[in-house]
Amino acid sequence: VANFLGVELPIVQAPMAGTVGSAMVIAVSEAGGLGSLPCALLDHATIRSELEAIRAATKKPINVNFFCHQPREVDDSAWRNALAMYYDELGVTEPMPLANRTPFDAEACALVEEFRPEVVSFHFGLPEHALLTRVRATGAKIVSSATTVDEARYLADHGCDAIIAQGFEAGGHRGMFLSDDPATQIGTIALVPRVVDAVPLPVIAAGGIADERGVRAAFALGASAVQVGTAYLFCPEAKISPLYRTALAREADTVITNVFTGRPARAIVNRLTREKGPISPLAPAFPLAAKAVMPIRARAEAAGSTDFTSLWSGQAASLARPETASDLTRRLARAVG
Ligand SMILES: Cc1cc2nc3c(=O)[nH]c(=O)nc-3n(C[C@H](O)[C@H](O)[C@H](O)COP(=O)(O)O)c2cc1C
Repeated sequence: VANFLGVELPIVQAPMAGTVGSAMVIAVSEAGGLGSLPCALLDHATIRSELEAIRAATKKPINVNFFCHQPREVDDSAWRNALAMYYDELGVTEPMPLANRTPFDAEACALVEEFRPEVVSFHFGLPEHALLTRVRATGAKIVSSATTVDEARYLADHGCDAIIAQGFEAGGHRGMFLSDDPATQIGTIALVPRVVDAVPLPVIAAGGIADERGVRAAFALGASAVQVGTAYLFCPEAKISPLYRTALAREADTVITNVFTGRPARAIVNRLTREKGPISPLAPAFPLAAKAVMPIRARAEAAGSTDFTSLWSGQAASLARPETASDLTRRLARAVG
């Protein structure tokens, strides 16, 4: 029996830019959950080839996810100056290109119209009205992340079909879009029931859910489904480096930081977050902060160091264990089945 997302199990594998590709999406959707393809770091040709691979491998519903920030022209010279000491230390002289990170646009929207994913989810609010109208016309269910009750009300008022309540524990970027102040952010156990009470829509709980107990807790708080990110990074289908995998297994501390991209996100504490963050007023607007970090990150990684790497992780990482995406999806679903 299909739920409000059109799938059998109330488990959404979180879209995780840079770490999730078609293999994970196929595995989760085939298992009965909702596999989610993150498109934020993909160019349009790659979005197309990933969607072709997915549609060829499964007939089950999928979610396709986009960032919808408003790119701003900003001066990043203060940030580059702040990082100059690392360039000197590592002997880096060359700049590096920045991976795509263009927000949802007309061309991406045309791919949605062509491939008709059953669910389309957004991070950082919603795209402009004309694009959202086109997405809705495809029949896709529209979902976005709220990190506060105000954001949940905004998303409900602007036509979302369900709300992801993204608690403070969550790994990766905060979906926050009405404020950029980390002090406004709320833990999952308080956020989920507050959003359930505030909006007349199904709520998908996210943040710190990595085992059966978390799933049961989310449902006890009124959630209709869960969106799980960090736990899926432990699956063999996750496209993460051995360095990242090792860091995740270490029970490391995490922190909300803007030093990697310019937007608050939860990552494992490392040299860059300690020495320049966790929140730096010098970090330029998303995604530009990443550009200056990229060359020192690459040089350090080549030497086996994650001093400058954005190791996105939620607070519940150590509750996860290595298993296939299919097994994880089914195990989490059994908690409430
Ligand atoms: C590595 C990583 C990358 C992420 N990238 C995205 C993304 O591209 N789009 C998005 O909507 N959310 C992204 N998120 C946030 C997740 O959707 C979700 O809110 C979060 O993973 C839930 O918390 P958890 O990690 O504790 O399970 C990312 C999270 C992680 C850990």
